[in-house]
Amino acid sequence: MNSVPEHIVGRYVERTPKSQAMNERARRVMPGGNTRTGVHYAPYPAFMVQGSGAYLTDLDGNRYLDLLNNFTSLVHGHVHPALNDAAQKQLAKGTAFASPMVGQVELAEIICERVPSVEQVRFCNSGTEATMLAARAARAYTGRSGILKMRGGYHGSHDLAAATADPEADRGIPDGLRQNIFFAPFNDLNAVKSILAEHAREIAGILVEPVPHAGGVPLPRDKYLAGLRALADKHNVLLIFDEVITLRLSEGGYQNIADVVPDMTAMGKIIGGGFAVGALGGKRDIMSQFDPARKDRILHSGTFNGHSVTMAAGIASLQNLPQAEIDRINALGDALASGFDDAFKEAGIVGKTTHVGSLIQVHWRDGEIYNMDDVADGFRNAGELPYLLHLAMLHRGIYAAARGEYNISTVVNESEVHRAIAAFNESLDELKPHIAEQYPALIAAS
Ligand SMILES: Cc1ncc(COP(=O)(O)O)c(C=O)c1O
Repeated sequence: MNSVPEHIVGRYVERTPKSQAMNERARRVMPGGNTRTGVHYAPYPAFMVQGSGAYLTDLDGNRYLDLLNNFTSLVHGHVHPALNDAAQKQLAKGTAFASPMVGQVELAEIICERVPSVEQVRFCNSGTEATMLAARAARAYTGRSGILKMRGGYHGSHDLAAATADPEADRGIPDGLRQNIFFAPFNDLNAVKSILAEHAREIAGILVEPVPHAGGVPLPRDKYLAGLRALADKHNVLLIFDEVITLRLSEGGYQNIADVVPDMTAMGKIIGGGFAVGALGGKRDIMSQFDPARKDRILHSGTFNGHSVTMAAGIASLQNLPQAEIDRINALGDALASGFDDAFKEAGIVGKTTHVGSLIQVHWRDGEIYNMDDVADGFRNAGELPYLLHLAMLHRGIYAAARGEYNISTVVNESEVHRAIAAFNESLDELKPHIAEQYPALIAAS
């Protein structure tokens, strides 16, 4: 290995001594020093201590433009005055009451109005709980146990969501559950067709993220989502959209863009105004299974479900996210993605982005990216490059996910997008000698 990576890592360590010390302290009391797999990166993550608008400050006082936004939940950046004010006002009135609360009704009304497929809503505390509830509701409604999901898709961390097509990777997930999961590659209608032809009577629902986000943002092929709808109808299987992330892409989520109406929709992130949230929405006859007055009700309780502060901030979040604002951040996302694509070309390095609106993913490969196997292929060929690029971008004051995932909040402006693109250009230039030496296949033919 030549000196470039060491230089990049060394420079990071030099700038973050307090994070390094805190990481050592953290490792004594938390496995690996943190409590969330996705925020870890080597040599240790910077500890963020303050957010303000579009910026984050770490323990050592380094300032970053935040293009991660707590993995998309902070669609209005940090300490947005309207969200903050709403939360503060509710805090002053008390946090949680063991009763239904007015804020729950108000947020549910806003969601039902925005998302046409959603007639009723059930709140919970995370996207994980939302997809877990969706599966339970589908099973109760159909009387079947199986769930068909897409290979490499991410739906949270409960057993069904975390199970992969690889039993070796699924430590701690019971075999009994695995037997009720069917996997198809994303964007492959024929695979779904043949699974349903053989197993429809065992399958309660198809769980799919309309654009898999952690799955690398492969776009759904034309008619793919409509095809899933048709197959679900044909076999009396429920179609569940996981819009925990993609809800931000239009007022009515990606289902509005695709013009496909699922039976249930899992939501989270932006509907909580920065606080822990999840929600399941759907057709009235499916959702009514949660009606506590029904003898055959599905039990769904939770001390913090529909938390009053979350509801207040969530209402402010959606009120400040009309279609015009969504269009604006989607356009900024387009600009960031094409700037990154141009940077790869200018640097003569093989790489590209996939993106939809304000969601962008960097790949170390070219060619079409249809599903998560294609995405994994790019990462496999790139070794430590995503991690080095991440450190190089941090050095230039740009914060994103270590795996190359970026998103735009409403408090980011055009010049900040240009700054991120300039940082990307410089970072690729800096990495190029290392790539040429270690990954010659990633140097573009001139
Ligand atoms: C598509 C999708 N579904 C579900 C979840 C789980 O949400 P949470 O982290 O709130 O449990 C996530 C989290 O990123 C997600 O991206």
